[in-house]
Amino acid sequence: MSETLERWSTRRAFILAVTGAAVGLGNIWRFPYMTGENGGSAFLLLYIAFVLLLGLPVMMAEILIGRAGRRSPMQALAHLAGQAGATPHWRWLGLFGVTTVFLILSFYSVVSGWSIEYFIESVNGNFVGQTPDEIGASFNAFLADPLRMTFNHTLFLLLTLSVVAAGVSGGLEKLNNLLMPLLYLLLLVLAGYAVTTDGFGAAAAWLFTPNPAAITVSVVLNAMGHAFFTLAVGACALMAYGAYMPDHQSLPKAVAAVAVLDVTVALLAGIAIFSVVFSQGMDPGEGPGLMFVTLPIAFAELPGGAWWLAIFFLLLLLATWTSSINLAEPIVATLQGAGLRRGRATALVGVAVWAVGMLSVMSFSTMADVHWFGEMTFFDLVTTVPTDIFLPVGGLLIAIFAAWVMPRDTVVRALDAGPRGFRAWQATVRFVSIPLVVIVLVSGLL
Ligand code: TRP
Repeated sequence: MSETLERWSTRRAFILAVTGAAVGLGNIWRFPYMTGENGGSAFLLLYIAFVLLLGLPVMMAEILIGRAGRRSPMQALAHLAGQAGATPHWRWLGLFGVTTVFLILSFYSVVSGWSIEYFIESVNGNFVGQTPDEIGASFNAFLADPLRMTFNHTLFLLLTLSVVAAGVSGGLEKLNNLLMPLLYLLLLVLAGYAVTTDGFGAAAAWLFTPNPAAITVSVVLNAMGHAFFTLAVGACALMAYGAYMPDHQSLPKAVAAVAVLDVTVALLAGIAIFSVVFSQGMDPGEGPGLMFVTLPIAFAELPGGAWWLAIFFLLLLLATWTSSINLAEPIVATLQGAGLRRGRATALVGVAVWAVGMLSVMSFSTMADVHWFGEMTFFDLVTTVPTDIFLPVGGLLIAIFAAWVMPRDTVVRALDAGPRGFRAWQATVRFVSIPLVVIVLVSGLL
């Protein structure tokens, strides 16, 4: 378990890599439908509060552990625990994270497959001239077709694992460089268009007018889970990227840049999608199909809409690609740490993720009647429990390790924000983030 010498080539490359991990389905697909199901502005406000009070400090904790350990997550945790005179059992936190990203990747690949399908359909011009009802019906027909769903899920997983098998560094850096600015630009165009529609006023009111009455325990729990999910925090996946962080770079500054990019992508997507929802008189609480139904409707009305739509799904696909690479990397690295060759480890991860993903595929058709804990299909289960429970529990343990277990000097060096920056970070994690996760988790579970 010797130290890795690999580094991201520049400070900007590190920020782009972490942004690539953070920006994905969470911002463009999950954020709008969760906001729709959880009372609009109430969810948005809580989500932003959790990003600031929890997401950012814990993200710094997670990355600094990787940076100080300069090894794969399990090995870094064991090494640093040894240095601090703490129990080596901390390494099981790495395995817990691997389990979490494994479950997330299994449905992530299925939903990214939907983007492949929609990319191809928009290139073929399939949505042109369709009414909103027809667009909604064709989405449901797609979900009910396990063969098409399986094909896209398999294809996306192969795309992800081919990059992971080759090693994450060089290629991923280039992809990120090109992609993030393009995605941003397109979302700006889309949101700019949304502002001109007659649904924009209602969307803005619904997103930004405070509505404390809508806040319930489950809304709070969902918002906390989403803050972790969208920042890619709580599963030791960013710990793996932190191990390659260059030596002279302030962690708080890097992380703040990532969070600003991440939140603005979500806001732009939310404005675009909800303007369509309200101008078409649709239901914001539509669920996971929200983006796939609203965006084809929106683009169908733009000049050259079929092309815009195709470009949008292509960019979304690339954004989910860099996220899923981040999800797969810690699983492969852990198997590699256990002695497997990289190629074989990747193949094994592929087969296992594919099989579990198939349960999500079938939960829309052949397994639609199989329910867990009452009403939930497998897809409902795997899109909620790992995100709302496992990520916060993982984040809590990561925070405890960095703020209470690791020696002060190691943390000061890995945070790279001077003694005052360190004290502010430590006080926030110890007295705000940790108690907050505990309170929300406990009240959510009771
Ligand atoms: N943040 C990504 C998104 O919003 C998903 C993701 C990538 C993730 N890596 C992660 C979530 C690690 C949790 C943990 O789409």
